[in-house]
Amino acid sequence: MTDSPVLVTCGLPYTNGPCHIGHLRTYVPADFYVRFLRHCGENVVFVCGSDNHGTPVVISSEAEGISPREMCERYHAHFDETFRKMGVLFDRFGMTDDPANHKKTKEIVTSLIDNGYIYEKTISQSYCPQCKMFLPDRYVEGLCPHCGEKARGDECDQGCGKHLEPGEILEPVCRICGGNAELRDQDHFFFKLGEFSHFLKDFLPNLKGTLNARNYAQGWINEGLHDWCITRTLDWGVKFPGRDDLVVYVWVDAPIGYMAFTEEWAGETGGDWEEFWKGNAPITHFIGQDIIYHHCIFWPALLKGAGYSTPDSVVASGMVKIDDKKFSKSRGYVVWTNEDYLDLGLSPDYLRYYLLSYTSHTKELNFSWSEYQARVNNELVDTLGNFIYRTVHFTSKKLGGIPQIDADEEILEEIKKRSELSEASVRDYEFKAAIDEIMALASYGNGYIQSNAPWKMIKEDREGAEKVIRNCLQIVKALALLFDSVIPEKAQKIWEQLGYGDSVSDHPVSEGTEGFGDTVLGEPSILFEKIEEDRLSEYESTLKMRVEEAKKKENRNIKENYMISIDEFTKVEMKTARIIEAEKIEGSDKLLKIRVDLGDEKRQIVSGIAKFYNPEEILGTDVIVVTNLKPAKLFGVESQGMILAAGEEASLLVPKRNVVPGTKVL
Ligand code: MSP
Ligand code: ZN
Repeated sequence: MTDSPVLVTCGLPYTNGPCHIGHLRTYVPADFYVRFLRHCGENVVFVCGSDNHGTPVVISSEAEGISPREMCERYHAHFDETFRKMGVLFDRFGMTDDPANHKKTKEIVTSLIDNGYIYEKTISQSYCPQCKMFLPDRYVEGLCPHCGEKARGDECDQGCGKHLEPGEILEPVCRICGGNAELRDQDHFFFKLGEFSHFLKDFLPNLKGTLNARNYAQGWINEGLHDWCITRTLDWGVKFPGRDDLVVYVWVDAPIGYMAFTEEWAGETGGDWEEFWKGNAPITHFIGQDIIYHHCIFWPALLKGAGYSTPDSVVASGMVKIDDKKFSKSRGYVVWTNEDYLDLGLSPDYLRYYLLSYTSHTKELNFSWSEYQARVNNELVDTLGNFIYRTVHFTSKKLGGIPQIDADEEILEEIKKRSELSEASVRDYEFKAAIDEIMALASYGNGYIQSNAPWKMIKEDREGAEKVIRNCLQIVKALALLFDSVIPEKAQKIWEQLGYGDSVSDHPVSEGTEGFGDTVLGEPSILFEKIEEDRLSEYESTLKMRVEEAKKKENRNIKENYMISIDEFTKVEMKTARIIEAEKIEGSDKLLKIRVDLGDEKRQIVSGIAKFYNPEEILGTDVIVVTNLKPAKLFGVESQGMILAAGEEASLLVPKRNVVPGTKVL
């Protein structure tokens, strides 16, 4: 236990779309960690905010025809609300576009300039000659120069995950018009990241948090660091000091948001933000594995260069996959937190439990509804729920209240052991292991009540049965305190069933071995309900539908890409023609050799309509002929055009009114 405060932050969500369960793997574990530490008596400040700048927001707002700020406010409110519903409660949830962050960013960039870490340089940057604009970040797509996969302007998101500098992307294509981009010279400002290699080599081995963060970062340093271009030609963002035509790269002002939001929190509460950012109070960043580079290399170097304290720990989760496929909104491999989950009335606590207990924090989490169902039904319902219900129900119905005796030492020892083991795991960022310990206590309780069978014992030995139940109630109390960080809504209900009127989150885990005093048991009720089979197939079919929809959309896009302009269409020459001769071609049951009159000329055409028309019946018919096709030989017979027909049965297209042979179509 300690009085010195700790700061915990979460990767800031971009405000260009709704919350999905991939996001939650940053926020739920961070919230669990914060709640757990608070239950252990620590003083934790928990801040986050939305990431408002950068091209993703600009592109999405353009697509919707609203201003970037409007877009940001909409999704800021969305994330704020969703986090609250999920029980993820920040002390401050700010916006990077708010004045505090603009100010802080300008201050820090100015310090970096003053300290000699920023220089100006001319670079070749992607430029679209049709749209007449430079193409920052997501305005350009192409191939990753490192791995060859499809990539976005600033990031290889489908392949190696590397950060890409402006102008680095190969075969650049403009996202707006789809045309090929070219490279043009442009002046930009660079951050001397390369100069921080030595600092980072000392910094990283001491960086706490999860090993994956440290190891990835170490690998990148070994490959060599190059300077980062930190300006963009955009209107939306934090202006680069002294330049109205440039904003700073979003990855400069976004992490500075962590500091600005701490300052905002301090302003609201009278707290001290400087003890974290200028002093020694530790900072812990929770992020996903995709943004380790930004947090373990770029960000510490920025802080160091501007003279601020650097983070103490970076905790990086593995990525969330859906049904074993890489998370992808465009391909439909996505589960939306609201639309696909909360809006259906599903419990936020079930999802928290699933995300936390599924696997080790640094491993990939492969979401599937069937696994979700199994966890909820077997663990929350059958183990935890069952034990609590049996205990509280029996106490209330058969004993009338909490027996006024002490719990056995053996039980208290078991509680202490599980509490200590779970705390140690939490401090190691092994959240699954921590929850396994807590669940082991529930299983222990279940085994204990089952083997002692107080419902039988009470018939001959009421005192013995009271003892057993008193022990079980002690375990239930400990479980409420331990599970509060995992499933806060349910834990509060357990707490209330035990007769407490206050908030379980105000009590330390250590009270799990303390007695009940004169509390009067509340009403027993069922807290956990199974996910039924038919509901499960509904959820699964929603996911299938998303993937199908995405495929259809993809096909539509492909078709759109093959659309032709009117100029291209008018290259095709079509005329009306009268059939004047027709005969079967020897050896073919499909083809007719036809002679047509085009007014000023006559032509021979081979047509695949023999199965549907006798030569005689089409004589004298006016048809439409493509007249500028290159001649081709079919069955050794030359064809000088094509007769238009529709459908499987080759219905000939004919002019509705009389026209002279050779009239142009169009
Ligand atoms: N805006 C940046 C972070 C800036 S931090 C100064 C960003 N935004 S995000 O909306 O894409 O992601 C927000 C958080 O969710 C990040 O911590 C990110 O790692 C995490 N995840 C988003 N999708 C994820 C998965 N599919 N799987 C696991 N975590 C992922 O990144
Ligand atoms: Zn263009």
